[in-house]
Parts: sequence; C-alpha cells; structure tokens
Amino acid sequence: MEQVLDFAKRLLLPHCHFHGVYLDGTMGNGQDTLFLAENCPESLLYAFDIQEEALFQTRTLLAKHHLAACLIRDSHEHLDHYVKKPLDAAIFNFGYLPNGDKTIATTADSSLSAVQKALSLLKDTGILVLVCYPGHPAGAEEAKALENWARALDASAYNVIKYDFINKHQPPFVLAIEHRTAKKSADTDKIDMDSKTES
Ligand SMILES: C[S@@+](CC[C@H](N)C(=O)[O-])C[C@H]1O[C@@H](n2cnc3c(N)ncnc32)[C@H](O)[C@@H]1O
Repeated sequence: MEQVLDFAKRLLLPHCHFHGVYLDGTMGNGQDTLFLAENCPESLLYAFDIQEEALFQTRTLLAKHHLAACLIRDSHEHLDHYVKKPLDAAIFNFGYLPNGDKTIATTADSSLSAVQKALSLLKDTGILVLVCYPGHPAGAEEAKALENWARALDASAYNVIKYDFINKHQPPFVLAIEHRTAKKSADTDKIDMDSKTES
C-alpha cells in the first residue's frame, strides 16, 4: 500500500501536463515543488513558504535539477495576491519543515483560508490535494478543521476522498477534492478510448 506522500503524488500525476498552472502551498524542503516542476514542463509553478530556509532548500534542489519555479516567501493564505490564473492542481503538505524548527508550523485558520482560496481558483478539471498530520497538537486541530471543511463541500459539485491508515493512531492522511465535472470528463475520455480500442 502506498504511503500518503506517494499516494498524494499519484493523485496529482494525471493532472500534470505542459503549459499548466500549479501551486505548492507549503514548499518546505522542495520535494513537492520538484515533483511538479519535473512533471509539468513549461508551466507556471507557484510555491509558498513563510521560512527563508524553505526557499533556500527549494531553490537549491530545483537548481540541481536545472528547474525553476516562482518561490514566494509569504503565507499561503495570501496566495490570491500572486496567483491570478486558474489552477490545474494544488498540493498542501501541512505541518513543519522536516529537520527544521517544529514551532513554525501551519495553523488551522490560515490553512483553511488558503485551501478555500485554492479551491476557488481550481479549474473544472483540477485537483486539490491536502496532506494532513494530526499527530502533533496543532496538527490535530488543523487536520480536524480541514476534514470538516472538506466533508461539508457540496457533493453535487465536488468529489472528496480521504486516504487514511485506519488501524494507526493519528496517522497522516490525504484529502483530495476535484470538481465532479473533472470526473465526468475523465469518464467521457475513457468511453472515447474504449470505443477507439473496440473499433
Ligand atoms: C511539511 S513541510 C512541507 C514539505 C514540503 N512540501 C516538501 O516537499 O518538503 C510544511 C511547510 O509549511 C510551511 N508553512 C507553515 N506555515 C505556512 C504558511 N502560513 N504559509 C506557507 N507555508 C507555511 C513550513 O514553514 C514548512 O516548511
């Protein structure tokens, strides 16, 4: 079974293409930004973090791979000040910088505000992927708030899933949200493919 970060990337992959618009709401050490930069060539890629250390790590990682992105030192709750085009996909990997200062972590209020803004910018074919960490005190409150928000989204407009290791205590989990039209167009593509295969 895939770990949450691998599962999150697998959800993103079908949405990765040339000339798209992508968002990493929490750049950290840059692994998710690198994944998007590698898989979405010639795209507009925005990555946010409040720590200079994260920008340094991510800039260094991207340079090693001869890739680039718009690295923004600001809270993701202000993403609408920078991102003006509809998004193909967005990922938020919440919590604190791995091997960094654990007291600088995402918080329920700003995370909620950021994901609401990201969802409002999402294309009809887009996906929003959230990796939540309820295993630390602030993370528990944040994860609950994000899950409650996602559960309350109109089911006639959005498909929402949770990927969760239910026999563990407070494991990290993934929430993913897509417009129902995205699912419909994927099904239509599949029917087209099937009819091509048959003929
Ligand atoms: C788990 S790490 C992200 C991991 C990262 N995506 C990677 O691939 O390495 C969470 C990051 O969120 C950042 N962060 C905390 N509050 C934030 C905020 N309000 N806006 C943007 N980033 C924030 C932290 O500084 C930390 O670097």
